[in-house]
Amino acid sequence: IDLEDMELKLKENPDCNHVLISHMRGKLADMQAIKDLCDKYDAILLEDCAHSLGVRYKDQHSGHMGVACAVSSQSYKMINSGEGGFLLTDDPDIAAKTAVYAGAYEALSGKHVTVPSKEAFKDYPKTIPNYSLRMSNLAASVIRPQIKTLDERIAKYNARYETLQKNIEARVGDHLTIPKLTPEVTTMVHDSMQFNLDSKFTPEMIEDFLKECGDHGLPVELFGHKSNARNFINWGFAPADCPLPKTADMLSRACDVRMPLMWDDEDFEDMADVIVESIETVLEEYGVSA
Ligand SMILES: Cc1ncc(COP(=O)(O)O)c(C=O)c1O
Repeated sequence: IDLEDMELKLKENPDCNHVLISHMRGKLADMQAIKDLCDKYDAILLEDCAHSLGVRYKDQHSGHMGVACAVSSQSYKMINSGEGGFLLTDDPDIAAKTAVYAGAYEALSGKHVTVPSKEAFKDYPKTIPNYSLRMSNLAASVIRPQIKTLDERIAKYNARYETLQKNIEARVGDHLTIPKLTPEVTTMVHDSMQFNLDSKFTPEMIEDFLKECGDHGLPVELFGHKSNARNFINWGFAPADCPLPKTADMLSRACDVRMPLMWDDEDFEDMADVIVESIETVLEEYGVSA
């Protein structure tokens, strides 16, 4: 994250009360600096931990810097109950309100085991709407056994990632960069890989690279693609009120590939081969010296 720009935005928008940081693909920014800026400009920090379950910042689990964080257990996440998720907070007021929004009307909060004291509920059951977003018993029973296997799965993901990263950097490190982690991140969960194609790749070459990978059975996505949901250009519901050329440039060459857990170790050698050979093919086709 561009901290200078973030500070500028907070300064220019004194009515900004909240900052929501999304740890996309588990990548945490300099969270201490972000927290300090939020405190300085009186903005409440919230964390979207949909992708950062298991990721630790200064040995503490991600999600502790904000007043609350949300973890998704939708499919594709570290804990998969098909749909669902949970909110975590140390703030009794947020916890009580969340329980009521989720469906703790009348005296139903008494049935929960993790809600704050009765007093924290004030008159919320009468004043806040119930959106009926309770986690079902079925989702919870799918989630609980997966918590026990988290450490083992994280170790497997990370070991594979390290090998894949070394393989790719050794062979095509002159043509792409694999982003480094924020130094304060002490545990990462590498369930996917991101790499940025370097500036010799034109938009046409990038398109051809993605197609080449796809033709070899490897779906590689581009964050900056015109249909990618992570590209801010596609957020018609929340348009940016100023141009964001640096972000657009970054996204235009940022590739994203998942590392499915059920693949075998050898499959990641094939994955590296497809990425490397697709890069070489495109460079050759466009007559760009490797
Ligand atoms: C970064 C990020 N935040 C939040 C979500 C939302 O999760 P859910 O679909 O459980 O609401 C997703 C879903 O993929 C996501 O990628």
